[in-house]
Amino acid sequence: MNKIKDLKWGVTTAAYQTEGAYDKDEKGLSIWDTFTQKSHKIKDRSNARIATDFYHRFEEDIDLAVDIGLQIFRFSISWSRIFPEGVGVVNPKGIKFYDKVINYCLKVGIEPWVTTYHWDLPQKLQDKGGWTNRDVINWYSGYVTVLRDHFADRVKHWVLINEGIVCVGAGYFLGVHAPGKRGIRNFVSSTHHLLLAQAEGFKILKERTGLQVGTAISCTKIEPYRNTTADHKAAIRIDTLMNRLFIEPHLGLGYPDNDFPVLKRISKYYKKGDIEALKTDFDFWGIQTYAREVVKAAWYIPYLGAIQVKPKKRNVKTSVMGWETYPEGAQYFLERFAKYNPKKALWLSECGMALSKKEDDQIRIEYYQKIIEGMKTVLDKNINLKGILLWTLVDNFEWAEGYIPKFGIISLDRKTMQRQMKKSAFWLKKYLSNIKL
Ligand code: GAL
Repeated sequence: MNKIKDLKWGVTTAAYQTEGAYDKDEKGLSIWDTFTQKSHKIKDRSNARIATDFYHRFEEDIDLAVDIGLQIFRFSISWSRIFPEGVGVVNPKGIKFYDKVINYCLKVGIEPWVTTYHWDLPQKLQDKGGWTNRDVINWYSGYVTVLRDHFADRVKHWVLINEGIVCVGAGYFLGVHAPGKRGIRNFVSSTHHLLLAQAEGFKILKERTGLQVGTAISCTKIEPYRNTTADHKAAIRIDTLMNRLFIEPHLGLGYPDNDFPVLKRISKYYKKGDIEALKTDFDFWGIQTYAREVVKAAWYIPYLGAIQVKPKKRNVKTSVMGWETYPEGAQYFLERFAKYNPKKALWLSECGMALSKKEDDQIRIEYYQKIIEGMKTVLDKNINLKGILLWTLVDNFEWAEGYIPKFGIISLDRKTMQRQMKKSAFWLKKYLSNIKL
């Protein structure tokens, strides 16, 4: 089994949050390009038309990752760069850009990992209903086939869909992320289609031998507020929604709708064979975790019957995201995943902490030190943890929060576009060079 020094370290990034060049080289618009046009949806009324300008500065960023000693560079591909219309004609300039990124990674000796989908659906597909339209399974399959045919000769690790629950929960239920849709019907239909699409994507990639194909799951530790039956039940419902819905159907356990009966509504969208088709034996699971939430029963909240007790009300400090930062969650979820299958390879495929512009970066160092402590315990318990990917390299566009939260270990001056390693980057560099000795 792995020891802490055997873990691989890397970083995760995402196309919309970093690339910029939103309409360059025949790229089509994505739902995030159009969503951010309604600027009131974004806290600082910003958008990611330029973002960190990764499109033009990827070499510099990859060099920085290598300099820190990271071994993996995980980035996502923008679907609308490859297919400006979502389907149909492939844009050679889109392919060329990702060829350059992948080739550069290989040249400087860092392993490129691809996420096929990190929330930026082509707008043209959203115009046809997006994830609520069952055709999305075919659209996504066509897209993944093209990615496989162009990049699988050089990219060995693939993450299919990043955090399905956030994609459909924030985008199709709460309406706080693109495409800004709300409601239970949008939620249940897009959940089912996204999971089916992901299962298809897995099969398509696995037609090639030698690939490691997995998914990345958002995990939030949920706890009841009071020691009452009602609050315990509320916590079970929210935990089922947030931490099981996008896992158990792939494990062949079906939808966890006994613990959250609202999910029975998904069955309206079942076609014959669907539940079987969802079964997917991923090569690895990516666990992504940031926060803890405490919930209490609330009969007046539709569908959920639960409400979050905000950290402030519990006298708990929050990060600039308004979250209770919870590094202990990484250990908790790795242990929980290992119970599903003790042999399966696990990655901590995102973890990180947002600071405000004014906060001392020492706080981030302490956060990562706690993560490392948790990982030592996990490894002592013989859990098959392979590595840790940080969120994130360079401060970037944090979705509905705009540029306010700073998740990077490298800062960005948005006027000059200059990057500068923060204290945490220097700390990590030292840590990584010592641990390998
Ligand atoms: C994850 C997401 C990332 C990043 C991070 C911090 O859920 O995959 O894109 O935004 O959270 O909020």
